[in-house]
Amino acid sequence: MELLELVPDDLGDDLARRVRKLVHSTWPEDAAKEGDYYRNLATPTAVVILREASEVFAHLAIYEREVGVGSETLEIGMLGGIVVAPEQRRRGHSRVLIRHAHARLQGRCIPFSILFAYEPKVYASSGYKLMQNATRFIDADGSLKTFVYRGSMYAELSERRWLNQLLDLRGGTV
Ligand SMILES: CC(C)(COP(=O)(O)OP(=O)(O)OC[C@H]1O[C@@H](n2cnc3c(N)ncnc32)[C@H](O)[C@@H]1OP(=O)(O)O)[C@@H](O)C(=O)NCCC(=O)NCCS
Repeated sequence: MELLELVPDDLGDDLARRVRKLVHSTWPEDAAKEGDYYRNLATPTAVVILREASEVFAHLAIYEREVGVGSETLEIGMLGGIVVAPEQRRRGHSRVLIRHAHARLQGRCIPFSILFAYEPKVYASSGYKLMQNATRFIDADGSLKTFVYRGSMYAELSERRWLNQLLDLRGGTV
């Protein structure tokens, strides 16, 4: 098993195709959209991949974003596109991807990571807690929305404590 961290532009055709296949097998609705999988959302600063020989079986995208928390502007990490191939699930692979993402963010002195979970229990052992914050974000239709986003979670990556204040994503969710 090999772990790779790359910027999306360095994936190359073969890896990009394998990543798309994995992601689209989980979220087929994305396959129907025109254009590039990443750029349709927001471009990640890095993607982390696990592969066995040439087969990509796990993927996570790291976004680094300036957001507002209360009156403060802060750079945080956002994790998205977390997917592990069905036959490889429940073996700790998502934990490995997240641990790697956290090390990268900590190396850049980024104090928090957030994600939007379908199943919050999966992320508890990686240090994530459910947020109480109202989140402001730009929805897929371009409108500005503010509400407590179900399944939004944060992890503290340094001594700093997360604040329960308005989180303004200044963009979309991932
Ligand atoms: C969610 C997903 C990424 C988890 O990947 P995984 O490699 O199987 O997860 P891990 O083996 O690393 O497990 C991490 C923890 O979650 C738990 N877990 C994994 N799948 C779970 C599930 N479906 N329900 C509840 N808990 C689950 C594990 O028991 C483990 O708990 P622990 O660390 O407390 O022991 C994978 O199931 C997947 O790709 N699902 C489809 C896509 C998806 O929903 N992505 C998430 C978008 S936010």
